[in-house]
Amino acid sequence: MNSYKIAVIPGDGTGLEVVTEGIKVLDACQEKFGFKLDYTWYDYGGERYMRTGEVLPEGAVDDLRQYKAIFLGAIGHPKVAPGILEKGILLNLRFALDQYINLRPIVLYPGVDTPLKDKKPEDIDFVVIRENTEGLYAGAGGVLKKGTPDEVAVQESINTRKGVERCIRFAFEYARRRNKRKKVTLCGKTNVLTYAFNLWERAFYEVAKEYPDIQTNYAHVDATCMWMVKNPEWFDVIVTDNMFGDIITDLGAMIQGGMGIAAGGNINPEGVSMFEPIGGSAPKYTGMNVINPLAAICSAGMMLDYLGERQAAAKIEDSVKIAVSKNLKSLSAGKMGYSTTEVGDLVAGYVKA
Ligand code: IPM
Ligand code: MN
Repeated sequence: MNSYKIAVIPGDGTGLEVVTEGIKVLDACQEKFGFKLDYTWYDYGGERYMRTGEVLPEGAVDDLRQYKAIFLGAIGHPKVAPGILEKGILLNLRFALDQYINLRPIVLYPGVDTPLKDKKPEDIDFVVIRENTEGLYAGAGGVLKKGTPDEVAVQESINTRKGVERCIRFAFEYARRRNKRKKVTLCGKTNVLTYAFNLWERAFYEVAKEYPDIQTNYAHVDATCMWMVKNPEWFDVIVTDNMFGDIITDLGAMIQGGMGIAAGGNINPEGVSMFEPIGGSAPKYTGMNVINPLAAICSAGMMLDYLGERQAAAKIEDSVKIAVSKNLKSLSAGKMGYSTTEVGDLVAGYVKA
């Protein structure tokens, strides 16, 4: 029997509630599909930081390398200044484990409301491949004369040929494997960011030559936002940098029905990957049993897919589809017609059925 060691980091806010439902569904899969998940829980997050003063303890990253994958809830605590936990935990893990791809599927499931008038599930089915270790997130820059009228703040975008190329290559491979519209769109800003996106553009068209079966296409990031609303059916795989990917995937989450269903994976194809719902820690809903756990459940499904448990992953997706089309009234917190735990029960039930 295949067995996988999984690190579980519920993190902050509603993270614990959604991760618990994700595990409920994973456990239903273990039984049905005959594999074993061996969980180790970690308390990294805001509460631990306030208690101990450290975001991640000494050796934490190396310790996490022993796992097959990491299942993460959410990072961000209202009592901790913005940036400390996000940089100290989430970005730190993405960088240190070299999870250079942030994979975010934008899929409208049947029965789910989209704010896009007249758009149907067949129109909204693409993935965003966000570069996940460089760009504006790299932390390059600094501040001078802070707090004075002469203050200068510089935040630079780092783009390496190696980092850009491996991300672009992943996107082409993904489009080929996905085998749908077979099209990769580079989302950038070549008209203004003439250094960074010139590098992206050259790498993109060079890599594209290795994939004659895949169509290529370019859109500026602002236009990408426009097309995502007006003609989402044009997209299959979008590849972009870290910052643009962050922004367009929140827009993507909205057109697929909201943060409640938006899943993601921080992927290192050669190392340890980390799966997380893309919404935040939602402090105002914490502990109320009202948050939608489907994004975490779908992320758990992506994790199984990456572990090679394809059948189980597909079963989770099918089960979520049934739950959203037959049961849930809405995907928004408090409006689902079910509590958080009941949604987990529903999906786990469909998995077992
Ligand atoms: C995301 C989040 C993070 C990001 C934050 C919490 C640092 O918004 O995963 O999209 O910007 O990457
Ligand atoms: Mn984001």
